[in-house]
Amino acid sequence: MALVSSRELIEEAYRAGSAVVAFNVITLEHAEAVTQAAENAGLPVIVQISENATRFHGGRFEPIAAAAAAVARAAAARVALHLDHATEAGLVGDALNSPFSSIMYDAGALPYDDNVARTRAVAARAHEAGLWVEAELGYVGGKPDAPRSAHADGVRTDPDEAVAFVAATGVDALAVAVGSRHAMHERTARLDVDLIATLRARLTVPLVLHGSSGVPDELLRAAVAAGMTKINIGTALNIAMTRSVRASLAADDTVVDPRVYLAPAREEVARVAEHLLRVCGGEVVR
Ligand code: G3H
Ligand code: ZN
Repeated sequence: MALVSSRELIEEAYRAGSAVVAFNVITLEHAEAVTQAAENAGLPVIVQISENATRFHGGRFEPIAAAAAAVARAAAARVALHLDHATEAGLVGDALNSPFSSIMYDAGALPYDDNVARTRAVAARAHEAGLWVEAELGYVGGKPDAPRSAHADGVRTDPDEAVAFVAATGVDALAVAVGSRHAMHERTARLDVDLIATLRARLTVPLVLHGSSGVPDELLRAAVAAGMTKINIGTALNIAMTRSVRASLAADDTVVDPRVYLAPAREEVARVAEHLLRVCGGEVVR
């Protein structure tokens, strides 16, 4: 139990035709809730910290990373640690010298050739340090227009380009654009499940779904069945946490001790995370 490598969890899920959920953690309470959820569900989990989350902590990776690692080591579930959406070389360097076992390098905003060059260099450096590397294909179809996010409306990953990108960069997994978007508050995303199946058949590395908070349960199941292996979820936890805090404060405006509202908020995050773990990773579907 306790701290394991992302590679172990992802390769295991890839072989089984199942998925592992990676939850974005901003605070210690998120990390505690996510690991509690994994224990409750009897499933492994990836705790991931994004570059954005480190900005909230004054740009410092080490304190929140160390806290997440301590929570992971104490967990009864298998927990892996992942750096998410990294763009800065310094932050990647921090992760290489930490208990984190994987990174997502995000050069998706760059033109295709720059994305390939940067990603290949970072992947080589991370592999030397023994880390597993995920990347994102930002340009779809190789169009020479302005950069577009892989998760913008209407953008889809081109299978031929995805095959070429993986071969050129040597990454271990690919985040693909199949209809989801980051930071959705409603679960109204429509996924292109046929494209997921095509990408799974064409690529030899696991697929990663970003922006999964906006995807309804039945489509998350369909995405896993079609071949998604890592499911990234962040906003859904923040919705749960903030809804709970708002209700606690509305119920008693004399409260000053943060534990009064953070304890139920942490429980609510754990409840939502457990549900999503069971939806995405609870059964072998292939
Ligand atoms: O990398 C993180 C995920 O893509 C989370 O997206 O906050 O929309 O669930 P989300
Ligand atoms: Zn993402």
